[in-house]
Amino acid sequence: MTLNVIPKPNKVSYYGGTLNSDEVGIAYLTDEKLSDEGYVISIQQSGITITSKSEKGKFYADKTLSQILRQGSVPLCRIEDEPAFPYRGFMIDSVRHMQSVEEIKKYISAAAELKFNTFHWHLSDDQGWRIEVECFPELMEKGAWRDCHGFGSKDGRAYGGYYTKDEIRDVIAFCKERYIDVIPEIDMPGHTTAIVSTFPELSCRGEHVAVKTEGGIFRDILCAGNEAVYDFCYRLLDEIAELFPYEYFHIGGDEAPKSRWVNCPKCQTKIKAEGLSDVEQLQGYFTNKIAEFLESKGKKIIAWNETLNSGIAKNSITICDWMDRDGKCVDYANNGGKVIAEDFYHYYLDYVYGVTPLKKTYCYKPVYDKLTEENKKNVIGVEAPVWTEYIEDFDRMCYMCFPRLLAVGEAGWTREENKDYESFKKRLVAYEKPLSDIGIKMAAAQEWDPGFKTRSKDVFKRIKDSLTPEAIRVTLFPNKE
Ligand code: ACM
Ligand code: ZN
Repeated sequence: MTLNVIPKPNKVSYYGGTLNSDEVGIAYLTDEKLSDEGYVISIQQSGITITSKSEKGKFYADKTLSQILRQGSVPLCRIEDEPAFPYRGFMIDSVRHMQSVEEIKKYISAAAELKFNTFHWHLSDDQGWRIEVECFPELMEKGAWRDCHGFGSKDGRAYGGYYTKDEIRDVIAFCKERYIDVIPEIDMPGHTTAIVSTFPELSCRGEHVAVKTEGGIFRDILCAGNEAVYDFCYRLLDEIAELFPYEYFHIGGDEAPKSRWVNCPKCQTKIKAEGLSDVEQLQGYFTNKIAEFLESKGKKIIAWNETLNSGIAKNSITICDWMDRDGKCVDYANNGGKVIAEDFYHYYLDYVYGVTPLKKTYCYKPVYDKLTEENKKNVIGVEAPVWTEYIEDFDRMCYMCFPRLLAVGEAGWTREENKDYESFKKRLVAYEKPLSDIGIKMAAAQEWDPGFKTRSKDVFKRIKDSLTPEAIRVTLFPNKE
């Protein structure tokens, strides 16, 4: 007997037999002893009862039950379920390529079926500014637009745009009905070409740079020695934070090369004045100032794992571990810091299946082996981003993300000891129809786990594409001009 449910419920006991009527009634009960997201479903010949503490738990129970009822033969059983992790996120990059609000809602609908509870929305980067703000309208007039070249667009027209506040409120309302929090990411101090192209005076050199038309890591970042930059960020973040009525706010912090800071009198003066050792600590100082500001507005801060490189980041910051090369996230979590598992090689859904097969995504263990027992809880969850440098349209996005998003959904909800890849693959088959009802077409089964030849070819191509001379230089020598 199996339940065709994704994510797999954590505890199921079978009474024996199957439900012999589809007219059976559902009763809803409350139990304060259950956890906030937990629920119990009992399916008996006499009726179905759903017990939860909260509306959210009831919502998840309904999601589970609708999948079971869809499967035809319904086993009589009792399900006692609650998530493995409190944070279950998916990220959409709406900068490199935008999605329509309707497309974003389709993705959210699918994520809600999988019991994700957090939508991390990447809204600013080198290739565009994507959110309406009243404080600096120039960001929408200039920073939101790029020449079309790069990213595969070759039609000679400018590419860009932004989400209006009304559109964002609409997405937030849609998420609220599905118990999903929305976390904006305003990436800083790096990945800020859209900002410094609009306001060159906020960069160290003050020179004009164009909004980028290709992917990569770029050197003209916010000047952390300039007080006007802090004032700018505070005004900007204040307005954006108000729009998103949630506790978390993501301030980026990844891939900030510091060659401009090394050569900037203002940055060097700041380093001396604050008693910092180097440019790395200057990023720590910058991040802490921004974090303190947002915390004073009642927010909790999330940032990418490079934030830990300075060694002075506030330990109230939750870290997204996308590429921790030297175990800083493990040490952080072992010292009480909170971490979200987001490893690029397993959870980045824009990597082709030859580089990241479904099985690899599914089998990734989000909790580090090197954590002490008491600190395991400091890995608060999982998140799967889809970066869109090479994903221009929604069909491609769905092909890349489905079914791998389902694998991350199961990692977020189902405890490690209850996971099983073969069972997951079987349960996946039943998911094709509900996804297509939402308007999402997942990749065909033969694409999920390619053989050796495709894998080698795709890995080789990935490495070759990423090894441009500038990418090598900026990665190996981020602080040298
Ligand atoms: C990242 O992929 N730069 C977070
Ligand atoms: Zn500077």
